[in-house]
Amino acid sequence: MSFKEGDYVIILYRERKYLRKLVKGMSLSVRGHTINFHDILGKQDGQRVGEFFVLSPTLEDIILLGFERKTQIVYPKDAFYIALKLNVKRTDKVLEFGTGSGAMTTVLSYLAGEVWTYETSKDFYANALKNWEKFNLCTNVKAFNTNFLEAHFEEEFFDACFVDVKEPWEYLEKVWKVLKQGKVCAFVLPTTNQVSKLLSFMKPLFTDLEVMEILLRHYKINPERLRPEDQMPAHTAYLIFGRKRI
Ligand SMILES: C[S@@+](CC[C@H](N)C(=O)[O-])C[C@H]1O[C@@H](n2cnc3c(N)ncnc32)[C@H](O)[C@@H]1O
Repeated sequence: MSFKEGDYVIILYRERKYLRKLVKGMSLSVRGHTINFHDILGKQDGQRVGEFFVLSPTLEDIILLGFERKTQIVYPKDAFYIALKLNVKRTDKVLEFGTGSGAMTTVLSYLAGEVWTYETSKDFYANALKNWEKFNLCTNVKAFNTNFLEAHFEEEFFDACFVDVKEPWEYLEKVWKVLKQGKVCAFVLPTTNQVSKLLSFMKPLFTDLEVMEILLRHYKINPERLRPEDQMPAHTAYLIFGRKRI
């Protein structure tokens, strides 16, 4: 593919990465080097332009650099593993609440047939829709500016469920009802006391319980002196999984 006006592009300058929309007349300057967007038009994905490289954005680039975050988000390192554990397939209907900034919804939408997502806050709901619209994502998502507790569903309607709210134990019975037998529900929580409380509520309703966290460590890209970065994000969230038991 080659870049045209209106496309989003990743502009790479050494280890620095920028996500920009290609608008004629605009430019980007980094450490005394300038790339004019006009010069990117017609260039190929991965092509060098002066001191820069131009690349089409991946889903990870879009979520990390393109989405406006009005809430904490599920980071890509956690999101795709959660989707794997949820066993999301093209034919699946997936339930999610709360939508937040729409980061996790985007990953679920990428893999599922349909995602039904619920968000109580008007502001966060509008922001998530804006994020998806900007990058033409989530066309298979039904988004509702509604409290999950107020939503009506048939029983055993969903193939998987993802919950990212502060007090998930308050919703467990309803989640259990709308989930198909044996299907997976995943949760993310930032603190261990929340995880303990959730586990005690999950035990009578879910089986095959698991709790984990994913540590991601980047390396300095110097082949002669390969070693980890000095700093890393130590904690994003605990991931909790269980399958509906009957
Ligand atoms: C941490 S954010 C979710 C972030 C999201 N997973 C993402 O990746 O962008 C939690 C959201 O849950 C919403 N929320 C809390 N209780 C809810 C409920 N009962 N129904 C729907 N949304 C709820 C909050 O308004 C908040 O936006």
